[in-house]
Amino acid sequence: MTYFSEASSAEVVNARMGAQTDPRLRAVMHALVTHLHAFIKDVEPTTEEWEAAIAFLTKTGQMCSDTRQEFILLSDVLGVSMLVDAINHRRPDGATENTVFGPFHVDGAPERAMGETISLDGKGESCLFEGRVLDLDGNPIQGAVVDVWSDNEDGFYDVQQPDIQPQWNNRGVFRTGVDGAYRFRGVKPVSYPIPDDGPVGQMLEQVGRHPWRPAHMHFLVTADGFEPITTHTFVAGDPYLESDAVFGVKHSLIVPCEPVQGGETAWRSAFDFVLKPM
Ligand code: BEZ
Ligand code: FE
Repeated sequence: MTYFSEASSAEVVNARMGAQTDPRLRAVMHALVTHLHAFIKDVEPTTEEWEAAIAFLTKTGQMCSDTRQEFILLSDVLGVSMLVDAINHRRPDGATENTVFGPFHVDGAPERAMGETISLDGKGESCLFEGRVLDLDGNPIQGAVVDVWSDNEDGFYDVQQPDIQPQWNNRGVFRTGVDGAYRFRGVKPVSYPIPDDGPVGQMLEQVGRHPWRPAHMHFLVTADGFEPITTHTFVAGDPYLESDAVFGVKHSLIVPCEPVQGGETAWRSAFDFVLKPM
């Protein structure tokens, strides 16, 4: 029997786990305790610093509600959400890359006719988003569901401004036909800060980081027999592409927004999605 000491701390805590513990839980808890104790030994926090850390986590929990998930935001700004996403969505060359889901998707957005607008408030610079949903061999996928959402001209999602924006503003669901094509009108997205009025925002400020995300359109693309894609297209040239607060940018997802002369929209953004079979 070894009593707890500075040297034996992780080993002693891990030895307490019951013999019947689920093997996966055992492995996860063992790694958690091992890395956490190594972190504490590395940092050697003062008692006051440890109390401040507990207070930070307490405030993070207290900030959570049905409409605000401060712990996911913490995971996002620490790059952990993107790391978990990368581990779980390793894809072959040519398949569209995933990125962070974010907190602003809403299930049940209206299904719209191909070419229809998702901008219900009529604000912002109009932009046509179009492309195809393809398999790895370049064949069109019929019946793919393309669920899209973006912020408005002022940098807010409809759910952040329920008293200002119409419900389902800048959201819609489109279903591809035999040619695998999707096409909808929206507004050219603008960069916006992630919610920064809580403990995560304070932490960013204290470590000299800004809360901004580069302008992007969100896509959730699903089709029978294929792995769903949760991703964005990022507007090329955005000043925050290299410093996204949540590390979501990937080179393959940066898409030029081209000016359109004499068209029905001021801008056009074209991107094909390539899905990996299940
Ligand atoms: C978003 O793009 O909607 C988002 C992603 C992560 C944190 C906050 C917002
Ligand atoms: Fe977003």
